[in-house]
Amino acid sequence: MNDNLHQLRCFGCGERISGSDARPDFRCAQCGDLFEVEYPGWSQRQSNSRPNPGALKWLWRERRCSSESLDQSGVWRFRELLPILDSYGNAITLREGNTPLYRLTRAARTLGIDQLFAKHQGMNPTGSFKDTGMTAAMSVARERGFEWVACASTGNTSAAMAAYAARAGLRSLVLIPEGKIAWGKLAQAMDYGAVTCQLKTDFDGCVEVLAKIVQEAPIYLLNSVNPYRLEGQKTPAIEIAEAFDWNVPDHLIVPGGNLANSSALGKGFREMRELGLIARMPHISVIQAAGSNPLVRSFAQSGGASLEPVEAHTRASAIRIGNPASWRKAVRVIQETGGWCLDVTETEIAIAKAELGAEGLGCEPASAVTLAGLKKLRADGRVAATDFVVLVLTGHTLKDADYTIDFHRGSLLKEHEAMGHEAEIDALRRNAVAVDATPEAVLAAMKGSAG
Ligand code: F0G
Repeated sequence: MNDNLHQLRCFGCGERISGSDARPDFRCAQCGDLFEVEYPGWSQRQSNSRPNPGALKWLWRERRCSSESLDQSGVWRFRELLPILDSYGNAITLREGNTPLYRLTRAARTLGIDQLFAKHQGMNPTGSFKDTGMTAAMSVARERGFEWVACASTGNTSAAMAAYAARAGLRSLVLIPEGKIAWGKLAQAMDYGAVTCQLKTDFDGCVEVLAKIVQEAPIYLLNSVNPYRLEGQKTPAIEIAEAFDWNVPDHLIVPGGNLANSSALGKGFREMRELGLIARMPHISVIQAAGSNPLVRSFAQSGGASLEPVEAHTRASAIRIGNPASWRKAVRVIQETGGWCLDVTETEIAIAKAELGAEGLGCEPASAVTLAGLKKLRADGRVAATDFVVLVLTGHTLKDADYTIDFHRGSLLKEHEAMGHEAEIDALRRNAVAVDATPEAVLAAMKGSAG
């Protein structure tokens, strides 16, 4: 059976093409912009292919009890909203999705918010939100008969791609900026058998090299310019809505790097609203690191009309991106939902990450920008005490253990960065201590530890 009901629509000029006609770099031949997946049948109210919201809610709930591997995936459980494959038999899944939604009680109390949750996408099979997108796009790669897949990455995309390629029996090529990705992520690419090339450039330089390679060799590009990635990455929006019985939060707060994830989640909420699954969209806000903030600058300089690439610097290496590919899509989501785009400093990121850790929710530094950003939105009243807020935590804490250890040892932040925040930082630091191998020494260390 052919389940495939999609076409691709250019985000810039509106040109429509069939999925198999996309160029290897996924850019529009007319205007150079990116595509997004569109399901023409959904817009016609009487169409047979327009999903029925009540039936979907029931079906998706039923599938939770199923032992079929496709139903156990938190992406493919919602497959009616991503009919991108000719046959679901081609789906490559590692049981991604179904990630936990945790209540943040301490942070909520400190911020004076009633309802604060974290959707922890770091609890995916390879430890980041990339898995939800990778299961979708890798399945397309296999269905189209590619032997090689490739991506440029700050680390998480490459880890996810390498794992899913291995499951699919495909070869994978990873381009990463030398010395600029966290060890945990590099280890994963190696473990899953990717050809891993460390280039003497930054992430944006890796993207440029790869764009040329895919023009010359039959390699399937799995960066987030690939619109099928976003189809998978929109499913956490469905999980969030389902978890709250189809009521949506007032605010969804997402980190911004290459700016695909915010776009994908926005697409998920938009489509659910259009299909009648939910009544409204949350305000979607994107938070960048201050040293890698091209979208924040774009809003300040041109209201999001144009974007000047920056040279990116941040210890949150996952979002060290100066020339984000999906910025126009992110602008649309922020504007249509009435969200905001702001940036946070290295100190604010480090403190927020430690605060999340102290609540038992480890995450990557790039994920902690969400809590740091929320503090600002709350402080100036853009988020109200009665608002219902969800932070999207994108990566697992073990991805970048060096960062965490450096923070707790006190060697992460430079003196000028910590200045004025010493008390806050000291209260959060929990360095490991060397003690004699006696019960007395250990008990003394316990007594000596702060509250
Ligand atoms: N958080 C983490 C942990 C990431 O790895 C990334 C992106 C982002 C946030 C930003 O998401 O790019 O969709 O805005 N990592 C990419 C990578 C670029 O190569 O792994 P975005």
